[in-house]
Amino acid sequence: MNDRAWLLQVSALVGASLVVLAFGILVTLPHPVVGIPEPSVVVRTGIPLLRWIANVCAIGAVGSVLVLVLLGEAGRDRAPALARRTSTAAVWTAAVWTVAALLGLWFNAAEISLRQLRLPVGGVLGYGGNVSLGLALLISAGSAGALTAYSVARLRRPSLPPDVGFLIALSGLTAVSMSGHPSQGEPPLLLMTASALHVTGAALWVGGLAITSLIIGADRQALAVVLPRFSRVAEVSFALVGVSGLLLAATRLTGDVTPPLGDVVDALRQTGAGWLVMGKLACMVLLGCSGAYIRSAVVDRVARQQPTPLAAWAGLELAVMAVAVSLATALGRPL
Ligand code: HEM
Repeated sequence: MNDRAWLLQVSALVGASLVVLAFGILVTLPHPVVGIPEPSVVVRTGIPLLRWIANVCAIGAVGSVLVLVLLGEAGRDRAPALARRTSTAAVWTAAVWTVAALLGLWFNAAEISLRQLRLPVGGVLGYGGNVSLGLALLISAGSAGALTAYSVARLRRPSLPPDVGFLIALSGLTAVSMSGHPSQGEPPLLLMTASALHVTGAALWVGGLAITSLIIGADRQALAVVLPRFSRVAEVSFALVGVSGLLLAATRLTGDVTPPLGDVVDALRQTGAGWLVMGKLACMVLLGCSGAYIRSAVVDRVARQQPTPLAAWAGLELAVMAVAVSLATALGRPL
């Protein structure tokens, strides 16, 4: 893929994802509470937008780390330019994730402050120390910042093991979504575990596919190493995301982990969150079908370094995943 086509594909994915995010926010907009002043438009639109940026960059950073691990030491030595490009992607995505988490902390603190965005640094830090979402955003920013530093160090010393990046990213990846609805539902421990597994599975799956197709796809030999390995990760992630997603959705829609089917159907049809969950279910069905096709018809040919329509299929899957991530960001909002 040449640079222009690459840029075009990334812009199309970002554009489609933002349109769906705007829709998701509109259908889950909370009703104003009488007596409580409304936050400014900048704060109200900034909060979900920053959460979306943090989600997308966290996914990209985890995907870069995964692909470096899948390449293996031999693969990284054989294709140093490709490994360097993937490591650079890890640096940039982790750096933007750090900034988005810190700005998210500021905007969320401003939302409940009468001074709005003019609140002092002490007020922002106080929000981080006293409110669970604030603490989660601080953890997220800290972990993303540490991953940025480690990824910069890896660029200088490529012999450093890339898998350490997973350990550094894990707390930041899961903290914010665990601190929301899952921590307030019943039983919280089960729901928080489901949330952590859901987000981790989604990041490995979506981020891994994005980096494999956008960066590794340029080198047939490297792709022959990475794609068959990634395909196994994608299978496990699909199951993890699906099962944990159903558990989270049932509780999010009805407040019950094992609700009667009728209650679920009513909530799916009658609430904004229900529409978003239906959108995610549709994404899972599409991804299940395309994933099955890629596994049966494309992976073996890629492993033998034969020409395949992988770029087109991966582009399609990424578009569906971009929609799912935007729906997720709207669903995760505190309502
Ligand atoms: C391509 C597939 C999927 C991806 C990439 C994905 C990704 C995500 C991410 C990143 C979050 C966290 C958002 C945040 O906290 O900002 C999330 C939350 C959520 N996901 Fe998924 N998801 C997928 C499929 C599903 C499916 C199939 C369901 C259910 C049928 C589901 C239900 C949920 C729910 C209910 C939440 C919000 C939990 C809460 O209340 O905080 N997801 N998803």
